[in-house]
Amino acid sequence: MCGIVGYVGTRDGVPIVLEGLQRLEYRGYDSAGIAVVGGGKSNGLKLHKAKGRIRDLQSSLPKRLKGAPTIGHTRWATHGAPNDVNAHPHVDFSGRFAIVHNGIIENAPQIKERLAAEGIETTSETDTELVAHLIGLAAREHDDPMAAVRAALRRVEGAYGLAIVDAEHPDRVIVARLGSPIVLGLGDREMYVASDVGAIVRHTKQVVHLEDGEIAQLEPDGFTTQTLDARPVQKVSELVDLDAADYDLGGYEHFLRKEIGEQPEAVERCISGRIDERFSTVKLGGLNLEPHDLRAIKRVHILGCGSAYYSGEVGAHLIESLARIPATAEAASEYRYRNPVIDPNGLYIAVSQSGETADTLAAVEELTRKGARVLGVINQVGSAIARSNNGGIYIHAGPEVSVASSKSFTSTCVAFAMLAIHLGRIRDLSPADGDRMITALRELPAKIAAILEQEDQIEEAAGWLAGFENAMFIGRVRGYPIAREGAQKIKEVAYLHAEAYQAAELKHGPLALICPEMPVVAVVADDELAEKQRSTLHEIKARQGPILAIAHETLPTELAERTIVVPRTEPELDPILMNIPLQLLAYHAARALGRDIDKPRNLAKSVTVE
Ligand code: F6R
Repeated sequence: MCGIVGYVGTRDGVPIVLEGLQRLEYRGYDSAGIAVVGGGKSNGLKLHKAKGRIRDLQSSLPKRLKGAPTIGHTRWATHGAPNDVNAHPHVDFSGRFAIVHNGIIENAPQIKERLAAEGIETTSETDTELVAHLIGLAAREHDDPMAAVRAALRRVEGAYGLAIVDAEHPDRVIVARLGSPIVLGLGDREMYVASDVGAIVRHTKQVVHLEDGEIAQLEPDGFTTQTLDARPVQKVSELVDLDAADYDLGGYEHFLRKEIGEQPEAVERCISGRIDERFSTVKLGGLNLEPHDLRAIKRVHILGCGSAYYSGEVGAHLIESLARIPATAEAASEYRYRNPVIDPNGLYIAVSQSGETADTLAAVEELTRKGARVLGVINQVGSAIARSNNGGIYIHAGPEVSVASSKSFTSTCVAFAMLAIHLGRIRDLSPADGDRMITALRELPAKIAAILEQEDQIEEAAGWLAGFENAMFIGRVRGYPIAREGAQKIKEVAYLHAEAYQAAELKHGPLALICPEMPVVAVVADDELAEKQRSTLHEIKARQGPILAIAHETLPTELAERTIVVPRTEPELDPILMNIPLQLLAYHAARALGRDIDKPRNLAKSVTVE
C-alpha cells in the first residue's frame, strides 16, 4: 500500500522518480506527489502534488520542476481523504524538510498535542505531516539532519518507511524503516530508494534492504546506515534476481491478463527442483523441520487474508486428504483478535503473496510471541512475514503487479499440494500415491495452458455474466474455496455482486434467491460428490436459475446453459485447474464492463494497514 521512490545523483531526478512511481502505482492510486531539492534557477525545495493517478501528477507538472535529490509517493488514503492537501510529500513548518511515508503513526494524537504546544498547526489530515514537523522541531537542536531525523523518530510509534529531502543539504536523501519496506539501489554515482525493488530494477539490480530500526543517508557516491541510537551498521549489497520486464505489460492490455497467462511457467518454477522421484515425494528444504518434528504435528492451522486465505482453504483440504492431518484455514484478520489458544502440537502456516499484509504479519507475531511453530507460504522473498517465520516455502510466482491476485493464488495452492505430499509421505501416503500426485503436479502447467486456450469461450460466458447484477458461485468440499475465490475475483475486478455458497447449503436458505435473474456459476468436478452436485443443478434449473458450469467432460450438457470443460487431473488438484476459468471469467466480465481492471476502485496491493 502506497509507494515510495527517491533518487540522488547527477541526473534530473524527476523523470526517474515519476517512472518509478508509475511502476508502484498498483500499490496505491488515489493521489501522488513529488519533492525536489535544488536544480532550476532557484535552489531550495519544490513540491508538486495531485489527486488521482501518476498521469495526473505528470500532466500537471510545472516544467521548471527539475532537480537532483528527488522523492515521490503514490498514496492509498488511510488518514484523510484523497486530495492535493493530504497527498505526500509533506513539508515541515519551517519549509526545510519534505517527507514521504508508508505506514501508520499510532501516537499521532500525542504528537499533535506536542506540536500544538509549540504553536505548530497542521494543514492536512495526515499522520505523515506530523512526522515532518517533528523533524523540523528536532532540527532546532541538531545541526546534522541525520541526528534530527533520529531524534524525531524516537518520538514516533507505529510503522513507517520514510524518505526525506532537506533543502539545506541538496546532496542527500535520508530514509528510515520500521515495519514498512525500504530498499536502496546502488548506481554509478547515483543512489535510488524505493519501497519496492520493482520501482528501481530498471536502473540497478544491486540493492540493500534496510532492516527495522535502521536509517540511512544516501549521497551520489554511496550511503551510510545507522540505528536510531546512532550505532553504525555495515550493510552488504545483494544482486536481485528480477527482470525489469516483469513490471511491464509486455504487449498485454492488463497485468491481470498477463499474469493469468504466466501461470504455466509460474507453476513450473514452483515445482522445479523440488520433486524427489527416488522417494516418490517432494523436497522442501526451507521448512527447517526434521521428519520427526513433522511427524509430531497433530493439526495444521493456516492463516491468510482474502485470496490468500482461500488458497489456505485449498491447502487445508490437500493436507487433510493426502497427509491425513486435521487442517483448517482462517482469516488472519480475525484470528489475531480472538486471543487464540496455541496448539502445542500444531503447525501454523501464514500465507501471503506480498509477505507484508499487516493482519497476517500481526497474527504471525502473536503466534511467535506465544511460542508457536510458524511456517510461511510466501511469494516475496525476504518480506516481513517471510522473515518472521521459522521457515517455509517460497512459491516463486514472480512479481504480481495486478491488484487482484491470480498466479500467486495458483502457485500457493501448488505449494500446499507439495507440502501435503511431503507430510503425507512421512506418514501414510503410499509411494504409489506419492507418484500419482507427483505425475499430476508435473502435468499441471500443460493443463493450465490448455484451459487458457479456451479463452474465447470463457470470454463469451463472461459477456453473458456481465449482463446480470448478481451471481451465485457454488462448490462442494474442495470446490468450495474455489467458489469463494471466483466470487471474490468477480466482485473485485468486475464490481458485480457475487455470493459463494457450499452447493448443498443452497436449499437451507439462498435457494430463495434463485430465479432467471440470478446466474449460478457452479464448480462441479466429476468426483465422489458428482451425483449430489448434479441434483443441486437440477434444483437450480427447476427454479429457472441460469447455470454456468466449470466441469469435467462428463457433465451432461443439458444441466447447464454453458459449460467450460476443464482437463482432468487427480481429484485433489481439481481446484487448481477449476480456478483458472474463473480468473478469466472475472477478467473478461470486468473488461466487458469497462472496469479499471489492474487498479480496482478502493483497493490497493499489499494491505499494510489494519
Ligand atoms: C484478491 C487479493 C487479496 C489478497 C489479500 C492478501 O485478489 O489479491 O485478497 O489476497 O489482500 O494479500 P497477501 O497475499 O499479499 O497477503
